Parts: sequence; C-alpha cells; structure tokens
Amino acid sequence: MNQVTGCFITFEGGEGAGKSTQINRLANLLRRRGHDVLVTREPGGSQGAEAVRHVLLDGQAEEFGVRMEAILFAAARNDHVEQIIRPALEEGTVVLCDRFMDSTRVYQGVTGNLEPAFTENLERVAVHGVVPDITIIIDVPAKTGLERARKRGSKDSSGPDRFEKEEIVTHEKRREAFRELCQSEPDRCKLVDGMAKEDTVALTILELVEAILPELPSTGAKSGKR
Ligand code: TYD
Repeated sequence: MNQVTGCFITFEGGEGAGKSTQINRLANLLRRRGHDVLVTREPGGSQGAEAVRHVLLDGQAEEFGVRMEAILFAAARNDHVEQIIRPALEEGTVVLCDRFMDSTRVYQGVTGNLEPAFTENLERVAVHGVVPDITIIIDVPAKTGLERARKRGSKDSSGPDRFEKEEIVTHEKRREAFRELCQSEPDRCKLVDGMAKEDTVALTILELVEAILPELPSTGAKSGKR
C-alpha cells in the first residue's frame, strides 16, 4: 500500500444535524487556505456504492433484514474506500465524508441490534485500514433533527427516506450511541453541539480539524498557515 499523506475527516450524527452545511463550509475554508479537498458521502460516493445507495434508502433491502442491509452498506463502503477515498488520501487530499463506518455501528449495530462481532468484522473488511483521522459528531436532539430533515424533505420534495421514517425513540437511541462513541474513542470522535449558531459550530469544527491537519508543503501557491 502507498503511503497515505492526506487527511480523512468524517462527519456523523442523526438526521438533520447540519452535516452537509458544515461540510461545505469547512471545504470552502480549507480550499481557500490551499488544501486539495474532496467532499463525498455515504452510502454512495463511488459508482458501485451509488448503485447500492437507492436500494438501501428507498427501503428495497429492508424486507431482507438488518444483516442484509449492513452487508450492503459495507459493500458500498469498500467500493467507496478503494475507488475514491484511499487514492485521494494517497495524493495528499483532505477527504471530507458525510457519514462513514460509525453510521453502521449506530444505525445497524445499536438500533438494528446486530451482535458486535458481526459489525466489527464487516467494518474491518469494508474500511480495509482506512480509518478516519477525526470524526466530527454533530449532536442535536432527535426531535429537532427530524423537524429539520422534514423541512428539507418537503423543500426538495424527496420526502423521508427509509431511516428518517423510524420512531423518535429509535432516533434518540442513535443520538445516545453517537455520544457514547465520543466517550469510547475520545481521540478520534469529537462531539460538537449542533444546537449552537451555525457560525459557532463551524468555528468549533475548524479548531478541531486544525489540530490534526498536516502542514501544507511550504513551497509554491500552497504555502502559508494550515
Ligand atoms: P442521506 O439522505 O444520504 O443522508 P443524511 O441523513 O446523512 O442527510 O441518508 C443516509 C441514511 O442512511 C441515513 O438515514 C443514515 C443511513 N445510514 C445507515 O443506516 N448506515 C450507514 O452505514 C450509513 C452510511 C447510512
């Protein structure tokens, strides 16, 4: 395997946490500072994974059970990692990914009641060594997040997806599980209050990212502070 020189940043959280807004803000800022930035998302992000995405999100896979769904998420993830994420990191790109392995841990593992050994093994195969350098978990109460997601759904007339349709207690369990991840892996997973003002959330995320971002090469147009 080639040496990985980029930086892999994932964003996690419940529905309507504000991940996409914050990812776009961070991407713009890092680009202005001279970084090469790739914004991507899961499920999807590569040709193979996008083919699996609609099967998962419109609920076609639901009737086959949570194991089947978890395996499909993992298959999509592995394609995304090998086709897109790993090559980008090897070129020194900062990769910002909207959801990654922690979504499977929480959605399929915790609220899908899958046994940990099953999800751990799947995760190992799916990511194949490509683990995020930092994971930003944007925390909002389930009720607020769902209201935001509903508004967004009615605006773009997409309506709720297979997961948004679930009960509020399920979404609260997910919120709790994401918060627990920050306790069990405090070096990688950072909890950010998604109820704060958008600018405040953006600044908090920037500070967390700056702390781990590799220095830019000090020659040419990309010189300067990180
Ligand atoms: P999407 O509309 O792409 O994004 P978001 O909710 O982040 O704005 O929906 C993705 C859905 O898929 C979301 O409800 C979470 C779910 N999901 C899983 O259940 N497991 C996973 O591994 C991933 C990546 C997503």
